[in-house]
Amino acid sequence: ISALRLMISVIVMAPASSSLCMDGKQMTQTYSMPLPEVNTSLSAVIDTSAVLHCPRTLTRAVLTRWEIILRDKPSCTKAYRSDTNEIQDTNCTDDRITWASIPSQNPDLHIAPVAITHDGNYRCVTVTADGNFNHEYHLQVLVPPEVSLFLSRNRAAVCRAVAGKPAAHISWTPEGGACVTEQERWGNGTVTVQSTCHWEGPETTVTCSVSHLTGNRSLFIELNPGLTTSRSPALSLLIILYAKLSLFVVILVVVGFVFFWEINDCRETL
Ligand SMILES: *[C@@H]1O[C@H](CO)[C@@H](O)[C@H](O)[C@H]1NC(C)=O
Ligand SMILES: *[C@@H]1O[C@H](CO)[C@@H](O)[C@H](O)[C@H]1NC(C)=O
Ligand SMILES: *[C@@H]1O[C@H](CO)[C@@H](O)[C@H](O)[C@H]1NC(C)=O
Ligand SMILES: *[C@@H]1O[C@H](CO)[C@@H](O)[C@H](O)[C@H]1NC(C)=O
Repeated sequence: ISALRLMISVIVMAPASSSLCMDGKQMTQTYSMPLPEVNTSLSAVIDTSAVLHCPRTLTRAVLTRWEIILRDKPSCTKAYRSDTNEIQDTNCTDDRITWASIPSQNPDLHIAPVAITHDGNYRCVTVTADGNFNHEYHLQVLVPPEVSLFLSRNRAAVCRAVAGKPAAHISWTPEGGACVTEQERWGNGTVTVQSTCHWEGPETTVTCSVSHLTGNRSLFIELNPGLTTSRSPALSLLIILYAKLSLFVVILVVVGFVFFWEINDCRETL
């Protein structure tokens, strides 16, 4: 009988796991053994929405329960009893975590918008006449870093990936620059990575590539030969144009004044 039960579990769990899906395309998943206790790793990008599927069972669920364990918070439980059609929340204070729909129709959990504090474990327990089925999710919230590239003194280029989660990885093209990479961890779990590189060679354009689970980015910048200017070329051009225009106006006024004066002079002599 126990072997039969195991087989039923496998049959129940296999299609249930494959029906796993998320809102948006930012979700990744890895499967573990399709046995009564199933653990799934998930990731969700901050400010998107996520749906955690509670596997459906062949036999009717008497009770469906989500146990939510987040860092620095008491564990929250959302339960639905089908015989009494009763919903009960215990210790749940985050109104961004809700049942996806009416739990009698859909026992999935909905998180929207996903916040950095939603990192944690979510377990769906389904109590049936055949026993309990558990599906546990380990949710990792991803935060895309803010990427920038700029020049500092001595032809050094600085590439920064600010407050990403997990830490971004920075690489440079061409390779072979003298680089210093620093990481700074913030209290909210994000990391700022900064890489400063200096090239001795004749390189004029360098590229910084930032790879991150939320997407990769490349930025390039031109190294100034020798001295550094903070002014953009367009601005310099505008200043030159402005100076020329001012000079032109001054000359015009002077010429006009001389002309006017000469006319006056002529009138007086007449
Ligand atoms: C799932 O994770 C729990 C703890 O989080 C662990 O006790 C259990 O053995 C894991 N199960 C599987 C099948 O990996
Ligand atoms: C509610 O929070 C308390 C305090 O953290 C905890 O001991 C208890 O297990 C929680 N209850 C449920 C049902 O999660
Ligand atoms: C995390 O903390 C850093 C530093 O205080 C801040 O710049 C960043 O915006 C925070 N990120 C989130 C997602 O709260
Ligand atoms: C991002 O870059 C990493 C390493 O550079 C690579 O393994 C990964 O496939 C890239 N991802 C995308 C979406 O291009």
